[in-house]
Amino acid sequence: MTAHAIDATATRQFGDNRSMRPANTSAQTLTLTRPDDWHLHVRDGDALHTVVPHTAAQFGRAIIMPNLRPPVTNVMQALAYKARILAAVPEGMTFEPLMTLYLTDHLPPDEIARAQEAGVVAVKLYPAGATTNSDAGVTDVRKTYKTLEAMQRAGVPLLVHGEVTAPEVDLFDREAVFIDTQLIPLRRDFPELKIVFEHITTREAVQYVQQSDRYLAATLTAHHLLFNRNALFTGGLRAHYYCLPVLKRETHRQALLAAATSGSAQFFLGTDSAPHPVHLKEHASGCAGCYTAHAALELYAQAFDSVHALDKLETFASFNGADFYGLPRNTGILTLQRAPWTVPDCFAFGEATLKPLCAGETLSWRVVNRQSLWGITATSA
Ligand code: DOR
Ligand code: ZN
Repeated sequence: MTAHAIDATATRQFGDNRSMRPANTSAQTLTLTRPDDWHLHVRDGDALHTVVPHTAAQFGRAIIMPNLRPPVTNVMQALAYKARILAAVPEGMTFEPLMTLYLTDHLPPDEIARAQEAGVVAVKLYPAGATTNSDAGVTDVRKTYKTLEAMQRAGVPLLVHGEVTAPEVDLFDREAVFIDTQLIPLRRDFPELKIVFEHITTREAVQYVQQSDRYLAATLTAHHLLFNRNALFTGGLRAHYYCLPVLKRETHRQALLAAATSGSAQFFLGTDSAPHPVHLKEHASGCAGCYTAHAALELYAQAFDSVHALDKLETFASFNGADFYGLPRNTGILTLQRAPWTVPDCFAFGEATLKPLCAGETLSWRVVNRQSLWGITATSA
């Protein structure tokens, strides 16, 4: 644990043996090792200039999802994309995009060695048709076995969108069915392949991860920790709460929150922040994805605070992911203050507009040291 000099009024809440006091008592400031986002969509082009600064203001690194159009399927594309992301990091901020490749039925096994050499950290499996820009995804996982063998040998993690796509399977059951029909056989065939079960949404997934070994971990989004499926329908159809895997019922949300706050090394932060222009969200067939990068840590703090578990936030946000990927933990810090603030209604998004999750609502925690930590002159919302 690194010791950090912070503002004299701040109380360091992590890294010692004291547990956090209940939410409504005197803890006003939380300081944690600078976190990482282990699942992020930043898109491309002008959009980068809105969303990359939001993430870089909070996180040291982020795993960049490769579901562009066309997808990022080789190392050259990944490195070119990385350069475009870095060009959108504001002066004075440090941020490292961790690049991934998009698994197709035809990703050559020898691309894995090239990927590793180039610092590409993982490969993402989208079942074809499961979600946004997944058309080029995997039609049958057995077609990728040679590539998975190369990954297992090299220790390159497979990141999994864990939903089946068969139209006869109920949308709310797609994750649980994926475990039984895809993940269990996959893990049996590749027992030492590192797998991240991304953005899990069900009690079944939590239990499956808990019962497995150190080769399996899971990311959890802030929105799945904060909301259940009622959020999609309260007062009308609310497009900004629609993502995939879709929000589930309350019992599942509680299981996810218990896992996130359990201290288990197998669960870590992955926002799945997934920006779409507002006109494509508020649409007859609205796009899946919640934009949360503008207030990522604030939303996670709200969720952890709701069960008086802020003392577990640092492990979840700053340690477990780095440890699983075998990367060093960050050395900077991030400070949150209990200070109500209103989320902006929207952001410019290239030529379009981006509506963040919780737009216009009040959140209780606020990241306060974006400026002082990374030399940023204006605090971006
Ligand atoms: O809601 C989602 N949005 N889920 C995904 O898996 C993809 C993401 C996106 O890229 O928009
Ligand atoms: Zn995603």
